[in-house]
Amino acid sequence: MQRLLFGVVAAFSLLLPGCGGEDGGGSDDTGEREIDCDNEAVPSYSEVRAFGVCTNCHSSDNEGVERNGAPPSLNFDSHDGAASAAPRIVNQVSMGSMPPATSGFSLTSGEKRELFVWAECGTPE
Ligand code: HEC
Repeated sequence: MQRLLFGVVAAFSLLLPGCGGEDGGGSDDTGEREIDCDNEAVPSYSEVRAFGVCTNCHSSDNEGVERNGAPPSLNFDSHDGAASAAPRIVNQVSMGSMPPATSGFSLTSGEKRELFVWAECGTPE
């Protein structure tokens, strides 16, 4: 019985990649992170913990030195601001450029993954 169940589960998971078919979408730079949006619990913008770190600098509430050099046009304290920069966000965070190493801020791998899933899977509000 155990074995039969396992067989059914295995067959089912083998089928899954085949029936998706909407994998492309052009932005397949996820490479080694292997995000399959059909099988992810995609967080909403407000659930992405990383933005709590980013907005220490990238917030429309911050002015002048409070921004710590973050470009004035890059604010992640709103869904729109974050969503419109999603590809750049993934790029910077996956390279380890953001948050800046010298800033004392950092993200756990779980926080990064959550951010990537949000960014790659439709940036839900
Ligand atoms: C301590 C302040 C600080 C924090 C925290 C911070 N940033 Fe930045 N960010 C900067 C500064 C300064 C720049 C501009 C200098 C640069 O481009 O290297 C920048 C630039 C950027 C850029 C534009 C770079 C480019 O060339 O596309 C992106 C995207 C970005 N940050 C994303 C993030 C994300 C996402 C987070 C949170 C995970 C974050 N940043 C956290 C200070 C910060």
